[in-house]
Amino acid sequence: MARPYDASKLAIKFAFYREWLRNPKVVGAIAPSSAHMAEKMASVIRPESGLPVLELGPGTGAMTKAILDRGLAPSRLVCVEYCEPFLCGLRQRYPGVNFVHGDAFAISEIVDKLGIGVFGTIVSALPLLTFPIGHRIRLVETMLDLLEPQGRMVQFSYMLKPPVPAMPGSFAVSHLTTVFRNLPPARLWIYQRADARPLANPVLKTTGDLVTTEADAA
Ligand SMILES: C[S@@+](CC[C@H](N)C(=O)[O-])C[C@H]1O[C@@H](n2cnc3c(N)ncnc32)[C@H](O)[C@@H]1O
Repeated sequence: MARPYDASKLAIKFAFYREWLRNPKVVGAIAPSSAHMAEKMASVIRPESGLPVLELGPGTGAMTKAILDRGLAPSRLVCVEYCEPFLCGLRQRYPGVNFVHGDAFAISEIVDKLGIGVFGTIVSALPLLTFPIGHRIRLVETMLDLLEPQGRMVQFSYMLKPPVPAMPGSFAVSHLTTVFRNLPPARLWIYQRADARPLANPVLKTTGDLVTTEADAA
């Protein structure tokens, strides 16, 4: 059985690099996500909707913390992580969160078992570019089917272009922001259904709250 990780920053880094050495393609990043990036990702969540949030690939938990810091009740957060050793530390540090050991590509079976129908937001740290483009498109389609009609999936990537292009008539992608205080700097992308209200001119305040335009707030 994997040993639980200490919550200290050093232990978290150690846990990350241990898994990275074991399986760099699955971990898919050269460093844990910065708190700054995690805060920007979590800013998309609207805890007041009362809907649960789905996190994909929590790893060492930077985004899990930022999501909970937004005020979401732990019981409303479902996190799916492929690498089992990460889960021990996550369960210890974030009691009450629904951590599932599983593959995000099998999400339909996972949510069926949990009995959850609709999520408000999906926060994804999956290393999407390591998967074939057809798999990526299907994943976004599947994830958007799990969201309420105006729901959003936020995904980061280290490339200039989004990891999954928009599919006209099905889903749109917009650039939320670029986070320089992360190693390496990353771009944040919002996926939503083509007929959902667009995220017009997204700007982030220093608090990490999303400033919505009239079109977005309507
Ligand atoms: C870029 S890392 C996330 C880093 C994380 N934000 C952190 O600070 O530690 C990607 C994460 O996705 C997980 N992952 C990769 N493929 C997955 C899959 N198919 N299903 C669920 N999790 C997956 C990896 O194990 C890793 O924890």
